[in-house]
This record gives sequence, C-alpha cells and structure tokens, in this order.
Amino acid sequence: MSCMKISFLVLLISLSLGYFYGDKIHSIVPRHVLKEIESFVPSEVMAWWHGHQAKPATPEKITEKVDQAKKSEPHLFTKEELWKYYRGDKGSKGLYLAFMGKVYDVSAGKTSYQPGGGYDFFAGRDGTKGFVTGDFSDEGLTDVLDGLDENMFGGFKEWQTFYATTYKFIGFLIGNFYDKNGQPTAALKNAESKIKSAMDVEKKRKEESKKYPMCNSESSAAKGSRVWCSNRSGGVERDWVGVPRLYHAPGATHARCACVRNTGPPTEGKDMGKNTGDLNSPYMKEYKNCKPDSPSCVTVPPRS
Ligand code: HEM
Repeated sequence: MSCMKISFLVLLISLSLGYFYGDKIHSIVPRHVLKEIESFVPSEVMAWWHGHQAKPATPEKITEKVDQAKKSEPHLFTKEELWKYYRGDKGSKGLYLAFMGKVYDVSAGKTSYQPGGGYDFFAGRDGTKGFVTGDFSDEGLTDVLDGLDENMFGGFKEWQTFYATTYKFIGFLIGNFYDKNGQPTAALKNAESKIKSAMDVEKKRKEESKKYPMCNSESSAAKGSRVWCSNRSGGVERDWVGVPRLYHAPGATHARCACVRNTGPPTEGKDMGKNTGDLNSPYMKEYKNCKPDSPSCVTVPPRS
C-alpha cells in the first residue's frame, strides 16, 4: 500500500477515534500511540479538532471576556495556591490552569479538566511544555521549556490563542514566565521570540510548498518507484500540473521531489520571455532517464 494510502487510513482511524471517544481518548489510547497518530495527522486537522470540539468563543464573547478581566485586577497566583485550590475537586475554589504563565478559568471545559476528565492533568498548574511534547507526566508538565527544538515553539501559538479566546483570563502565575511582581521574565520574552521565529519559518515553508508542491509518489517491489505531478499533489490544489524535479532548497539537508511549473512566467524574478515557468531555478535537477517535460518519472525501475 502506498505511503499516501497508509497516511489517509491512519488519519481516518484517528478522526473516528476522536469522534467516538472525545477527550477520553487520552485515557484509552497510550500516550506514545497518540504521539504516533499525531505525526500522521496534519497540524491543520489537529487544530480544527481541538478548536472544533471546544467551540471557541465568538468575537463578542472574547471582547466580553477581555472587558471582564480589565474590570477586576489580575490575581497573582503562587504554584502552591493554584495546585492546592484550583483543580476542581470537592471543596476547591475553582477549575483553573495556567498556560505560559497566564491563568485561565477552564470551568466551561470541565468535562476535559475536572478530576477524571481526559485532560485533568493540566488543571491547577502550568504544564506549557507538555502541550507540544505530549509528555503528560509530572516532569513533562512544566513551565520550563528547556531542551525543545526551535521548530516546536510554533505549536505554542495555537494553544496561546486558544486559551486567550476560549476561557476567561484570571491572572498570572509566579513561575518561569512571570516574576513575583507579575512582570514578564526574560524566559517569557525568549519563548515569545522563539514562537515568532518558528511561525516565520512555518509561513515560509507553507509559501514554499505552494510554489513547489510535493510530488505524488508510489513504490513497490514489483513496480519500482515513481514520482508524478497532478493538479492536487502535495495537498496543493492548483490550476497547473508541473513536472517532477529534484529540489534542493538552500539550507535544506535533503533534496525532495517538487512539482515545478513548466510554462508561463517564473514565480519570482524577471520573465526572460522563455515561457518556461520555474524550470530555470538553480535548485532544480532533472531526474535521470526521465524526459524533461514528462509529468511522471520512474526513480527506481521495477525488478525484472
Ligand atoms: C500533544 C498532544 C495533545 C495535546 C497537548 C492535547 C490537548 C488537548 C486539550 C488541552 C484539550 C481540551 C481543550 C479544551 O476544550 O479546553 C483537548 C481536547 C481534545 N483532544 Fe487533544 N491533545 C493532544 C492530542 C490529541 C490527539 C492525538 C487526539 C485524537 C486523535 C486528540 C483528541 C481530542 C479530542 C477529541 C478533544 C475534545 C475533547 C472534548 O472537548 O470533548 N487530542 N486536547
């Protein structure tokens, strides 16, 4: 079965699991399996799932929440206070969690966060790191973001927006992100700047994948390996097909197959009147034994 078919199957299974089990999926499916599933599910689908399930606030509600927060002074919490009184168990004062040092009232999402809910481990603390690692152990649920790859920081942005627009902001947590006076720490500024860089990289990657979409590919012992272009390859719907080229982007460690526009003016730079699209990019190489204008190239011949 081709790689694309397997990914599609895993995507379908995970969406069905999520649909039927809701947030209980975290108690049913082991964490390492969830992480595996996550690597197959496109980030847009994950974001949709979480956002869709949690029903983000409407713009009017967001303004309302910001106004409410302005009216009452933000409270400064200690970690002990948040943990002791705000996990939503019997006799507690509420159901709160902190994300990047900001404390939110998550009682509107109590099915997820109250004791026994699929995400109860986030309640009463700042487990920011766990949101991108999927490590929901006590050690993994921390506000210290050491040891993360730079590219993982982009994952925080969605959660930041999610909590700010879905739940009521209550105050700040004294910890790695806010000091005892409620002032942002150097660690917070550092994290914010890493988030911004990761978002910029992601934006560039998306633009690049539109310009040079991935090729379709299939491989089997009997048929060998083949790459080809279509007007939907790489998940990029377009009005052109293009031809497969080995693309080695500047700074990239690996070359990949890209569908390259072969007619019309180039996407960037001057149109020299050649009408050959992006074929003249210095980062493109033709596949051996493949006609330069063929939309399909055999990269490994079938075993005879
Ligand atoms: C790093 C991995 C993950 C993290 C940090 C995470 C975190 C969360 C959080 C915090 C919520 C509650 C949102 C709210 O309503 O306030 C949630 C809800 C949910 N998550 Fe995840 N999740 C992860 C992976 C997954 C995966 C892999 C699936 C399924 C394939 C999944 C399925 C769901 C579903 C169905 C809900 C809705 C729960 C409900 O409101 O009933 N999650 N997730």
